[in-house]
Order: sequence, then structure tokens, then C-alpha cells
Amino acid sequence: MLIGIDSLEIATPELYLDMTDLAVARGVDPAKFHTGLGQDQMAVAPATTDVVTLAARAAAAVLDRAEEADTASLGLVVVGSESAVDASKAMAVMVHGLLGLPEGVRAFDIREACYAGTAGLMTAVDYVAAHPGRTALVIASDLARYGLGTGGEPTQGAGAVAMLVRQDPRLLVIDPASTARTQDVYDFWRPEGESVPRVDGHLSNRCYTDMFARVLAAHQEASGLGLEDFAALCFHLPYTKMGRKALAGVLPPEEAEARGLGHLHRRYDDSLVYSRRVGNCYTASLYLGVASLLDHCDLRAGDRLGLFSYGSGAVGELVTVTVVEGFGARRDPGATVSALDARRRLGVEEYESVLTESLGPVGEDASATLLPDEGPYALTGVVDGVRRYRRP
Ligand code: COA
Repeated sequence: MLIGIDSLEIATPELYLDMTDLAVARGVDPAKFHTGLGQDQMAVAPATTDVVTLAARAAAAVLDRAEEADTASLGLVVVGSESAVDASKAMAVMVHGLLGLPEGVRAFDIREACYAGTAGLMTAVDYVAAHPGRTALVIASDLARYGLGTGGEPTQGAGAVAMLVRQDPRLLVIDPASTARTQDVYDFWRPEGESVPRVDGHLSNRCYTDMFARVLAAHQEASGLGLEDFAALCFHLPYTKMGRKALAGVLPPEEAEARGLGHLHRRYDDSLVYSRRVGNCYTASLYLGVASLLDHCDLRAGDRLGLFSYGSGAVGELVTVTVVEGFGARRDPGATVSALDARRRLGVEEYESVLTESLGPVGEDASATLLPDEGPYALTGVVDGVRRYRRP
């Protein structure tokens, strides 16, 4: 049975900060952000945009593309996220309510830093295999926030990617034989009740590159697939230089050219187009890269792609997918670029105020907060711990 991703849609906030503006304000050479980290812009979420509203927007776009039968067959809704809004109630249940989905589904969240979206995706593959004819909705959604003036500040961002998983997918077939590795390490963590994570940034870089090398070697041993078997590789992208460092660690660019594998470095660039403008979105960032690759690369049906997922803490997994004939008809890159172009550019002071407010508690009436969300889904207030949302 062929199982995989039938459609994949993105949602990002309506506000952004230009990285040159941030660099100037922090007294840093802008080249460090644009070249050293590989980031040009950073999505900024006001208090009325949270993980749930981003997830609902992306999922609504997926359902717009879905066949009626696929929506009727929905049996599983999973949200993978680092940025939970409630310690108990699942965001998947909130999204289920906002979208008016059928009652007969399982809905739950998965947490493991930036890896949770992949855990959701592979759970969905297993679910569809065990329940032929059923479909699954997987949403990776996150607000990546480290705080003002921190080392992680230029690697913030926000966004969600939703995917419909079903039999005979029209975008990407997923090979269930992926390779995962787990290692207990404190490179990035967020104690309960704290609004921003604690991170040892340089350790996290090393853990990421080491994990990629180990997972790649283990996958090669288990599957017999080597780098020469992949048309392209996509990476978790906390910032777009990160995957390049990991790839260069196992395949320096000169060696790649000598071995006829230069396309892996060139196509890596095709996977960065959206992330350079959105920034980090934790669990969603790998799939933002997949969307960018599909939209900007000369891929052909049958091409094999490797997706490297990394979640600090740490779990790494290499998933192999195959491009399906006619995949281009399932994508609309023009709409993604238009949505990014239509965002409002913030000044640094506005960004600082919006970020500070969004990290604090939201009161009963969110309409008085700074630059409230104008989109179809928004947080309207929190009453007695109950989150109230606007929906179309
Ligand atoms: N022009 C061009 N490049 C420059 C530069 C300049 N003027 N100044 C610095 N750089 C380069 C550095 O050489 C470095 O490149 P390299 O990684 O290829 O060596 C890069 O910019 C980053 O510089 P660095 O000094 O390491 O930055 P930093 O100490 O501010 O830390 C992070 C960067 C990513 C560790 C930090 O932003 C962070 O902690 N982020 C959150 C955690 C994270 O994203 N982890 C990723 C793995 S999950």
C-alpha cells in the first residue's frame, strides 16, 4: 500500500521584521544574519496569533484542497508543537473545533521540541496502514521565540504546515522504513511555565550535525541507500545555514562535485526560499523546506528525497519520500509568495513591543492588543483559562 502526503499547506503571521533592521539595532554586521545564519526576514506573531490559529489556517487550506471523501474519512488529527498553549487540553482538539471536523476522530498533540511534527507524520503513516481507507491530518505549528537581545533572537520566527496523509497520495509517498535515533541531552529545553526556551546554542549546533551524521550512516546500513540515491535532501531549518553545515560535514562541496553529487548542495538552496523569509518555526521548519523544494526545484516523478528531522533533547530521524507524478498540480507557489509579500514590515520598536506583549498573558479582550490579527482565525481573549477564538 502506498501512503504519504496528499497536500501540504503553509500559514505564517501577517507581520515580519527585516533582519538588516534587527542587525543595525543590535549593533551587529547585517552579513552575520544574512550570510552567517542565512536569514533575511523573520515572521512575528502578535498576541492574537498563536499556535492554534496558525494550525487552523494551514489545516483549512489543506481541507480546501481535499476530496470530500478524504475529509469524510478523517480518523486522526495530530498537532506537533513545542509551543503548547495549555498543559492538558490538546491543541489538536481546539483545531478540530475551529474547523468543525467530524466527531469520529482521534485528536491529540505530540511534543518533542522540533521533532514533534515528524513524530505526527510517521504516526499518521502507521494509522493509515492500520486503517485502510482512513485519512489523517497532521499539523506542525510553532512560535519560535527566544526573547529580546538573546543569542537566539535572530533565529526566531513562526509558522505552521498542515499535511493530509492518505493512501495513494498525490504529492509524496513516504517509505515507512525510516531511521530514528534518540539521545538524552540538554541542548534546548523549556521548563513548565516558562515562556521562552533555555538553549545552549553552540551545543545544539553540534548535537544537530552529529545526529545527522549518525542517522545518515545508520539509514545507509539499514536500507542500503547512500547519498547518491537521493535527488535532494531537506533539513530541519532553525536557520538556513544549519542544514548546510550538517550536509557539508558529511559531504564537503568540493567532494560533492568530484562524486557527481553537487546537486545535493544546489538543491539545498531551493529548500530555503520560504525559510529565509519566515525564520524558524520549530516543528514546521522541515516541512516549510519541503514546500520550498517542491516549488522551486526541477524535481521529477520518482525522485527520492531524504528529510532530516531534528528535535533538541534529542531525537533525529531520516525519512525517505518519493515524488509522485503530477505533484506540481497540488502546489501553488504563487499564492505562498503573495502571502509573504502581503505581510506588514515592522520597525524594530514595534517588533519589540509586539514580542514582549505576545510573551505575556492575554486578558479577556485581545482586541486591545498591539496589531491584532486580521485573518480569519484569531485569539479573541482568555476567560478563566478558556481560550476564545474567532473563526470564519
Ligand atoms: N559576516 C558573515 N558571517 C558571519 C559574520 C559576518 N560579519 N559574523 C559571524 N558570522 C558567521 C559565523 O562565522 C558563524 O558561521 P558558522 O556557523 O558557519 O561558523 C555564524 O555567522 C554564526 O555566528 P556565531 O558567532 O556562531 O553566532 P552566535 O554566537 O550568535 O550563535 C546560534 C548562533 C545559532 C548558536 C544562536 O543564534 C542560537 O543559540 N540560536 C538558537 C538555537 C539554534 O538555533 N540552534 C540550532 C540547532 S537546533
